[in-house]
Parts: sequence; structure tokens; C-alpha cells
Amino acid sequence: MPDGNLTRARVAQNENLTRAREAQKDEFYTQFQDIETEVNAYLELNPDVFRDKTILLPCDDPEWSNFTKYFVLNFEFFGLRKLISTCYAMEGASPTQPIKFVSRPPHYNAETSETHGKILVLERNDDIHNNINLENLHWDYLEGDGDFRSAEITALRDEADIIITNPPFSLFRQFFAWIVEANKQFLIIGNMNAVTSRDIFPQIKDNKMWYGCSISSGDREFCVPEDYPLEAAGWRIDEKGNKYIRVKGVRWFTNLDHGRRHLPLPLMTMSDNLKFSRHNDLMEKHAYEHYDNYNAIEVPYTEVIPSGCDDVMGVPISFLDKYCPEQFELMGITDQGTDLSWLRIPNNDRYDRPYLSGKRMYARLIIRKKQ
Ligand SMILES: C[S@@+](CC[C@H](N)C(=O)[O-])C[C@H]1O[C@@H](n2cnc3c(N)ncnc32)[C@H](O)[C@@H]1O
Repeated sequence: MPDGNLTRARVAQNENLTRAREAQKDEFYTQFQDIETEVNAYLELNPDVFRDKTILLPCDDPEWSNFTKYFVLNFEFFGLRKLISTCYAMEGASPTQPIKFVSRPPHYNAETSETHGKILVLERNDDIHNNINLENLHWDYLEGDGDFRSAEITALRDEADIIITNPPFSLFRQFFAWIVEANKQFLIIGNMNAVTSRDIFPQIKDNKMWYGCSISSGDREFCVPEDYPLEAAGWRIDEKGNKYIRVKGVRWFTNLDHGRRHLPLPLMTMSDNLKFSRHNDLMEKHAYEHYDNYNAIEVPYTEVIPSGCDDVMGVPISFLDKYCPEQFELMGITDQGTDLSWLRIPNNDRYDRPYLSGKRMYARLIIRKKQ
């Protein structure tokens, strides 16, 4: 091989290795049950939510992603028009014992799999009507590596009505922007704190996106590849050798409507909360005190938002798990660049966070009860 070719081959190999290392951080595979529980919430509100729709699963290996499996199995039941599942070229990334339910094509090639992503397309037609035969489903290679930002996958995004997946954690913001710029419906998994970023919070504030339904506390278990370092606090290995890690702070993000977000939060008065709340540290936490620098009161837990109170309130980010837009107006977030100048008490030194008796508090969502 001439030197130039050798160098190019080494560079390509190194690029593949770097990509593999980087992608390691992103290999968290969603469990079938978690997808099913969440999707059920949308079907409950609207059984036709997916009817005649094209769904794109852009980070989902057609051989084994549970998203692919779930939507293939429910293709007829949901009345889908088209399902497209694509993945990034990442040979070797998979659960230890991937449940292969879609066959490998005859032209499968391990080397090609390192540079080309995969695609599975399922379209409504008479052949499969009422009888999808999983044995006969084959995926194919993409032209490129399957990066969601590539022109090839972006064209599939533009064709789709709904984008659904658990995207790479390390690229969550880019992935979110990629969906929003195309104005698509979506259901994706991410870290709850993503909402505090400058580019994502405005979507929440303007009621263009919200948390999903089925995860509102605790952690969730994700399957990880065999060589994944088990440094996390909660992990296990099942009887088949699959490794799982428990991840805290996970939420579904969506702009599909679900019923829970229209359920108002039951509230008690301020004095009843102080007497009867299960949180017995309300005084220590400065509950209901007025901030030094903002014209609002501190509410340290969502459950103790007082009834009959017209004050503007600062509440924890986890309020979004209970946020009912008919009950509350979400006005902003501290320290993330939303314009809260209208709420400021003049002549304070700092407005980066709420302060109470000079003490810097946690970042807070700013809300008001709707009349
Ligand atoms: C958090 S995992 C979830 C995988 C799958 N969606 C699931 O839930 O089981 C994110 C996946 O995105 C893939 N990925 C990483 N970078 C990507 C990119 N630029 N474009 C598309 N997929 C990417 C990773 O290899 C990984 O398999």
C-alpha cells in the first residue's frame, strides 16, 4: 500500500477508535417496558396519536433497539404509515446479549458496519397488512455513517412526523435543536436538568414542550455494553450477563399531549402546610419568605405551593413533574438568562440566583398561580 494510503487508513482507524471511545459514554439502552409505559400515556389520551404517521427512530440499531422492536410490533395496531429506524456506525456497540429480532441482510459485513449506519424501513402495504413477519424484515446499510446531523438522516427527519428515541447523552442539546429546527413532534429521553439550558428552557416556558408522563422521580435502569465500566452507584448483571446501570434524573421530553399534565396539583393553604406538611423542615428552608433580590417568595418543595396565594413564587426545577399549564403560569428561571428584570427588587448586588437574608439559594423556576 502506498504511504499516503497507509496514512489515510491509519487516520480512519484512529477516527473510528476516537468515535468508539466517545460513543461509549452514550451507550445506554432503553428497556422495552419503559418505552411501553410511556407511550401508553399518549395512547390513553388519544388512541389515534400515531395513526397515519411516519415515525423516525434516529439512534436505534434496527437489530436490537427496543424502540425499533416496540414500534415494529405495534406498527399495525398504531396504524402507522411508515417506520424508519436508523443508527450510527458503531460496530460492537450493543447490549451483551442483543435480542436480535430483525435479521441481518445477506450482505452484512463487519467492516462496512464500522463506517456505515443501518436503516430499517417498514411501510404500510398490503403484503404486511395485519401480519408483519419479523423473520422477513431486513435492515440495510445507509450511504453514510448514520450521524443524525448528516444530510442523509436530516432528510429522513424532514420526512417524518414524529421523532422518537433516547439520543446520545453527550449530544442532547444538538439533538434537541435538530428536532426543533424542523418543527417536529417528538418523544425523547434526557436528563431533567437539560430544561435549565438557555436553548431548551424557552420551549418549556412557551408550552411547546413538557416532561413526559411515566418518570417523575428516582432513577431508571439502562442496559450498557459488556465493556462498559461499572463505576456508577447502582448496577447489576443479569443471568444472561447483560449489564445494567441505574441513571438518576432521567425524564421523557415531548410535545405530544398526555393527560397527567392537565391534572391540577392539590394545594393546601400556607398555614396548613406549615402545620401538616410531611416536610417538617419548612422553617429551616425559609418557606414562604420573600427573597432579598426578587419580588417573590421561596417555596422549597412543589408539594407545599400554597393555595390562595397570589405572590410570584420560586419553586424547584422538579416542579415541572407536576406542572399543569391551566393551573400555573411559568414565568422564567433564575440564573439562566430569562428576563426577570420586571421581578427584581432594585439596588441589590446580585440577581444570579434568589437570595434570602444574604444566602444564595438554588436555581428556581418562577411561577404564579393562574386566576
Ligand atoms: C443513549 S444511547 C440509546 C440507544 C437507543 N436509542 C436506546 O434507547 O436503546 C444513544 C445512541 O446514539 C448513538 N449515537 C452517538 N452519536 C450519534 C450520532 N451522532 N448520531 C446518531 N446516533 C449517535 C450511540 O451510539 C448510542 O447507541
